This record gives sequence, structure tokens and C-alpha cells, in this order.
Amino acid sequence: MKKEVQESVSYLESRVKIKPTCGIILGTGLGALVDEIVISDSIGYDNIPNFPISTVESHHGRLIFGSLNNVDVVVMQGRFHYYEGYSMQEVTFPVRVLKKMGVQNLFISNAAGGLNSDFNVSDLMIINDHIDLFPENPLRGLNNSDFGPRFPDMSVPYYTPWIDEALSLASTLSVSVHQGVYAGVSGPNLETKAEYKYLSIIGADAVGMSTIPENIVANHMGMRVFAVSVITDLCVGDIQKVTVEKVIAAAKKAEPALTQLIKKLVSKVC
Ligand code: HPA
Repeated sequence: MKKEVQESVSYLESRVKIKPTCGIILGTGLGALVDEIVISDSIGYDNIPNFPISTVESHHGRLIFGSLNNVDVVVMQGRFHYYEGYSMQEVTFPVRVLKKMGVQNLFISNAAGGLNSDFNVSDLMIINDHIDLFPENPLRGLNNSDFGPRFPDMSVPYYTPWIDEALSLASTLSVSVHQGVYAGVSGPNLETKAEYKYLSIIGADAVGMSTIPENIVANHMGMRVFAVSVITDLCVGDIQKVTVEKVIAAAKKAEPALTQLIKKLVSKVC
């Protein structure tokens, strides 16, 4: 995989003029952040050697390099989900490429179902820890020590100072945020009522189908990670049917607040 990563890096470095240290993975609910970026380069995933290609229609699939509030950033517009059929190595390949290009700080957003009864639809939850319920691990197999250690520490998977910073920024922006534990599942089906109950009992505040593989690989490579979930549906009490339309609508509503939060956080810490 080292050779494949290096090929992607070489290609990107030949096309891109800037060298950002901050990367952002745009999940559902953060699409509008792109409008805030002064774009210097935009490269479709299908042009990048060895990159998987996004299959979900609502995700575009390109790497955007540019300036956000005068901070150089690289943005993944479109991510790869395990449920689409990619291997864990494919899902996390772009994170490896970003790190080898010099990205040290990673910001991630996602859509998630809320398991905490204090949460409402379109609330934001800063992830302070996670429970990995994916059936596969991106680090399984021979370890390449150029990337990181065989047994990476995961005691602080989300960088605590940024959580504190984001909480204080949220209060100045009058954005209401929670923090909590994200459970990651493979999907693509949503959970049964019994599964929601189980997830809540084991300590999760939200459940979704992404972020953890990228977080593990980022931690393996020694990156700092900040992640936030948009709560798109409630999985406690009188559980309603979840539709993709409802998820997208709930995420859209949260978009302005999430965009402001990430923009301010990146300006402050990058
Ligand atoms: N479960 C899993 N993933 C999700 C959900 C959910 O309820 N909502 C949005 N992504």
C-alpha cells in the first residue's frame, strides 16, 4: 500500500500549489463549507491514481485545495463508506494520502442517529469517544511501521483541546452542541429497535456508518482528529421510520451552524 499511497501523493503534489496541514472530510451536513473556500485546485477522485471512486449520489467525489478563512486546507468532498462495498483499506486510503502530503489535523463530519434522550433532530454532537462495531479493522494485516505502530494507542482518539475549543466557540456562536460517544456500524440498513436499545445500553449517544475507520487510521499515523455528528433522526422513545430524505433534510438544517463551527475552529487551531 505504501507504493500506492506514494503514487497518489506524487500525482497530487504535481498538480497542487499549496501544502495544507489541515484536512476536512465533508460528510452529510457540511456540504456548504465548500462555498466558504477560495479554491485553488479541485481534483476528481477518478483522476487520482489508486483512489477509490465514490458511488453515493449525494457525495461528489473530489479533493479540493484552497483557503478557508485564510487557512490552507484540503477538503474531501465525498467519502467512502464500508457499506458501499469498499474494503477498510480503501475507505481509509485518502487519509493515508493526506497525511503523507503533510496533513496533520483532520476534521470530520457525519450524519448519525441520536440515542441520547436529550438530543433533538438537527442538533450537533461533538464526538469525544467512539465504540467500533464495524466487522473489520483498517489496520488488520501486516503493519507498515512507516505509517504507524502495530498497536496504536486509542485512549484519546479525538483531540481533547479541540473539543474544549469547539465547545467554547459554539457558545460564542450561540450554536447548541452536545458531546458524546459515537458507535460505528457497517450499515447499510438502519438499526432495529432492539439494536438501538443495545447501543444505548453499551454507552453510545449516537450511531452512524462512517468516521471510525478514518479515525483509527488517522490515530495510527499520529494525526489529531476532531469529529462532529449531525443528529438526523432520533432512535429513542417513539422511534419513527428513517428515510434518506429525512436524514438529508435534518442535515441541511444543521448545515449553517456546523459550517460556522468548523470554519471558526479551523481558523483558531490550524
Ligand atoms: N443509524 C445509523 N446510521 C445513521 C442513522 C441511524 O439511525 N442516522 C443517520 N445515520
